[in-house]
Amino acid sequence: HREDSRKELYYQINREAATYYLKSFCQKANPGLTYMLKRGIQPVTLKKFGIGYADGEWDSLYRYFMSKNVDVKVLKELGLISESKGRFYDKFRNRVMFPIINTRGKVIGFGGRAIDDSMPKYLNSPESPVFMKKNNLYGLNLSRQDISKENCAILVEGYMDVISLYQSGIRNVGASLGTALTENQAKVLRRYTKNIVLSYDSDSAGQAAALRGIDILFKEDCRPRVLHVSDGKDPDEFVKKHGRDAFKKLVDNSLNFVDYKISVLRRKYNLDSYEESIDFLKEAAVIFRNLSPIEADVYIKKLANEIKISENAIRLEINGNNTQEEFVTH
Ligand code: GTP
Ligand code: MN
Ligand code: MN
Ligand code: MN
Ligand code: MN
Repeated sequence: HREDSRKELYYQINREAATYYLKSFCQKANPGLTYMLKRGIQPVTLKKFGIGYADGEWDSLYRYFMSKNVDVKVLKELGLISESKGRFYDKFRNRVMFPIINTRGKVIGFGGRAIDDSMPKYLNSPESPVFMKKNNLYGLNLSRQDISKENCAILVEGYMDVISLYQSGIRNVGASLGTALTENQAKVLRRYTKNIVLSYDSDSAGQAAALRGIDILFKEDCRPRVLHVSDGKDPDEFVKKHGRDAFKKLVDNSLNFVDYKISVLRRKYNLDSYEESIDFLKEAAVIFRNLSPIEADVYIKKLANEIKISENAIRLEINGNNTQEEFVTH
């Protein structure tokens, strides 16, 4: 009970901070609003997500909270205030502020994006008694009903991807919080749907994240798909340029996780080479080994047909008892 009331206090302080950032954001001609409008986010969307602005002063939030007699220890624990050489200063300065709100409507933390080229590009709240990154997804407070209704969730990398897709009318969307997808986040998503479309950035980091995400989701009994952003570096850029229907086509064209893994493998090996084909097949067999026999059967047939290796060879490889003689190609 004592723990609960402590948490309530933390939530309340976070909410006050969010309100403070929101007020700065609503002031005329503040750099945060200018930045977000320039990125094509409309006022109604900004409001929906509670986007704010942390001004450029050293300690305006600190002074605000002191005027309300808030305990500085709590402010430090929440990562709103830092201390250096006995002086207190605001952790977030001159940043667009994204409040992170859990599915019970509590403000649990913040992401703050630099609007000039200061580093880091994104500054996130630290872990605190009310903020556990591994258990939460950005945007889920707004999107979970749509995820249930559509029985599908689009999983993206960043805050801006969530907001842009949402604005375009794709509302079954969420992001893991600046880290790779965690087991707990997968469990949370699984409560709403099995069908998850990984829509990560089109760079190699995004591809690596998709491969990791697949394995985590698979363990939670999901059957993920992977979407390829065909133009622009992420869903935000794509949907701004091409719109909702074009993004929906990308969803329709997404690969199921087995086909995606195989496609990644095919790029890794030169299948004109006999030796590399064998290595390819060995790795492919590892993928199939985790599937149910019926699922595996479908993919084995497909792959055997595509790369002209006998189904039997693939089956033997999966069962781990291959011999040279069995490895007949045709
Ligand atoms: P924009 O440049 O604003 O479009 O952001 P982005 O989301 O496209 O950035 P990026 O693809 O580089 O990163 C994806 C997500 O990773 C962000 O939304 C953040 O949550 C997180 N992230 C990115 N850069 C940093 C960083 O410098 N520090 C931390 N802690 N997280 C970051
Ligand atoms: Mn980055
Ligand atoms: Mn990236
Ligand atoms: Mn981006
Ligand atoms: Mn990105």
